[in-house]
Amino acid sequence: DPVSRLIVISNRVAAPQPEGEGGAQGGLAVALSAALREYRGFWFGWSGNRIEEFTGKIDFQRHEGVTSATIDLEEQDVEEYYNGYANRTLWPLFHYRIDLAEYDRSFGAGYERVNERFAETVYPLIEPEDLVWVHDYHLIPLGRQLRQRGVANRIGFFLHIPWPPARLLTTLPDHEHLALSLLAYDVIGFHTREWLESFQNYVERELGGRCDPDGWIHVGDRSVHAAAYPIGIDYREFSEAAASEAARSACERLRKSADGRRTIIGVDRLDYSKGLEERFLGYRRFLEENAERRGEVFLLQIAPPSRGEVHTYETIRETLDELSGRINGEFAEVDWVPIRYVNQGYGREDLAGFYRASNIALITPLRDGMNLVAKEYVAAQDPDDPGVLILSRFAGAALQLKDALLVNPYSKEEISDAIRQALAMPREERVRRWRSMIETVRSEDVVWWRRRFVAALAGEDVEAAGSA
Ligand code: G6P
Repeated sequence: DPVSRLIVISNRVAAPQPEGEGGAQGGLAVALSAALREYRGFWFGWSGNRIEEFTGKIDFQRHEGVTSATIDLEEQDVEEYYNGYANRTLWPLFHYRIDLAEYDRSFGAGYERVNERFAETVYPLIEPEDLVWVHDYHLIPLGRQLRQRGVANRIGFFLHIPWPPARLLTTLPDHEHLALSLLAYDVIGFHTREWLESFQNYVERELGGRCDPDGWIHVGDRSVHAAAYPIGIDYREFSEAAASEAARSACERLRKSADGRRTIIGVDRLDYSKGLEERFLGYRRFLEENAERRGEVFLLQIAPPSRGEVHTYETIRETLDELSGRINGEFAEVDWVPIRYVNQGYGREDLAGFYRASNIALITPLRDGMNLVAKEYVAAQDPDDPGVLILSRFAGAALQLKDALLVNPYSKEEISDAIRQALAMPREERVRRWRSMIETVRSEDVVWWRRRFVAALAGEDVEAAGSA
């Protein structure tokens, strides 16, 4: 039984939702809220607001048993830390896109400054027995910043995106400084073995450290435990959403509008790491090579815009506007459009309904830490007549969902072939593949993820948790 409080720290804090609107929250928000209800504690982060001058004033809000504590940041903070170092430097670099990564000292300085601001405001709230859990690439230096202020608690860090190969990471000026920051934590978590191995390899090559097979990493006189903890969906909560009246009517709405055609669905933040351009090109190749199937299928791509202040995101948006328009112009008939390209976001219940109404999910990120859409698609299927999941080999989820049709997202031919194979797949095969995937989605859910990480953070059972 938990005795300590849990303090969760991340850049974004799930906004308190008005009654009955829990459906609009992301899966991680739902999951961490559940953890915070169980352990008490609070969730600390940026409010999303900008102010003239940083005050360090904390806005506490309590909602459904979860306390959030947020601070406002200055315009320059947001520019250099969030738009800058986090999303113009680390995000592209960690997704293997050094061609898009920008290295600018002012970003690095802003990143350290905001991490100091987080540390300075949160450390007085930390009590001696608290467990502190820091999330994602925005806050890598936070553990070090807290230690410098005398915080001796157990502090864990979880990275929700890939860790890049050592030879890519060394293109980052001050990469050692960033990586050494991680040694201030007690436990470091990655989604997959692949990201963990990249980190271990970096530690050995660049920091002269030693990585033991049991997960302990030693650099100088510091030791930290690092392991793979693949995140899952909140299976119970999602199943409820999928069984809701709203989900049923969303499913009906899509089926009706499909009018007997088969639906291929994609749902992604509008981000260059998601492989949307390559996906559209793969689908175009399918239309070219299978002229007889035109008019029988359509691609529904839901892509809510993201990080619109960052120019690379403006570019990908323009590229997709143009490409979807071009493909539609090229192939459309008076009564059929090949791509329905939708830039709005939907709540979980609507999405669950759309997933269930779709015969195929086409999820082809070029690189993705995990990808929970793939798991949600599986969870939303009709057990007697499930759809087919086409999944990128380069999504973390591919290591668990081995019965998806795995494709190389850079290959338009592989995408085209997989669509053809999925459309022709007999029901027995669909059921067999789905059964194996749902087993993983159900058992390795978000509660399993969170329990394993928190157990390691609490110093219980570290070996067992790390060996799975
Ligand atoms: C990814 C990151 C999260 C981030 C989310 C949305 O999943 O790992 O940390 O919150 O994208 O991006 P945003 O910039 O809107 O927070």
